[in-house]
Amino acid sequence: MINPQAPLACPLDGLALEDHGANWQCAANHHYDLARQGYLNLLPVSQKTSRDPGDTKAMFTARRSAFSSGLFAPAAQALSYQLASRLSPSGDKPAVVLDAGCGEGYYTDHMRAHVTSLSTTIEPVFMGVDISKWGIVAAARLYPQVTWVVGNNKHLPVLPGSVDIITSIFGFETWQPWATLQSAGQRVLVAHAGPLHLLELRELIYDSVNIHDSADDSAAHSAGYEKLKQSAVTYTEPVQSIDTLLQILAMTPHGHRVRADKQAKLQSDLARLVNMPLTIDVCCRWYERIA
Ligand SMILES: C[S@@+](CC[C@H](N)C(=O)[O-])C[C@H]1O[C@@H](n2cnc3c(N)ncnc32)[C@H](O)[C@@H]1O
Repeated sequence: MINPQAPLACPLDGLALEDHGANWQCAANHHYDLARQGYLNLLPVSQKTSRDPGDTKAMFTARRSAFSSGLFAPAAQALSYQLASRLSPSGDKPAVVLDAGCGEGYYTDHMRAHVTSLSTTIEPVFMGVDISKWGIVAAARLYPQVTWVVGNNKHLPVLPGSVDIITSIFGFETWQPWATLQSAGQRVLVAHAGPLHLLELRELIYDSVNIHDSADDSAAHSAGYEKLKQSAVTYTEPVQSIDTLLQILAMTPHGHRVRADKQAKLQSDLARLVNMPLTIDVCCRWYERIA
């Protein structure tokens, strides 16, 4: 459901949105209906990148099954700890966390549940924004305690200075627009695939695998952010079912890149791959908006 304290802004003119029950309105009378699943669509046609932008319904279905295997739970837990360590309420206002490119909300809700379980003061507001309607519909069904919004990272529909922490988990950072939105001292937590992420799976489907760290801070720096810290979450676990392995393939860009011959080999080797060890390697970086 939409948290009444969520600092939502009209995607057309940036004015504050107010709750009118079945819809949210700005002072210029633009209004946005609350979907029956409890999310808001704040993506005007002018901000759509295609007719059906973002990840597909099939990718979210695969991602949901892969997440339910538990393989990514330690990563979600580590991100939750990281977030909690830097989240503090400002005065009597709740802190606001916005997960940009949240997909179907697995990490968003994990972070919310952890932070909320620790909160001794005012509960933070957790928001998830994704350009894919399919992701947000799934998220709203699964995790009703987060404020879910269909929107574009480049035009986040929130009031300037209102978001204490933007998280971008396996997402696409849009530093310049975020710098315009955030004030000095506000932060961004970025989590990307580290060099060893899904290494064993990549070795199965590519002739050669590049192991390099692609972390690049230049775009963040030129937008006015300073890097505070970088760390890695790395672990290897057996993948207990072939279905999970195939779902992991389908939820990542690797799934589209498998050549036909490799696909056939993969299919013929499937039985052998039960309990295959798989490395999860997440690179986490904290940035702060400087004056
Ligand atoms: C790799 S997925 C990660 C999803 C989620 N954070 C997770 O880790 O499960 C990237 C997400 O970014 C979304 N996305 C792509 N372009 C976007 C944009 N301009 N604004 C908001 N979301 C976007 C996609 O729809 C997709 O859900």
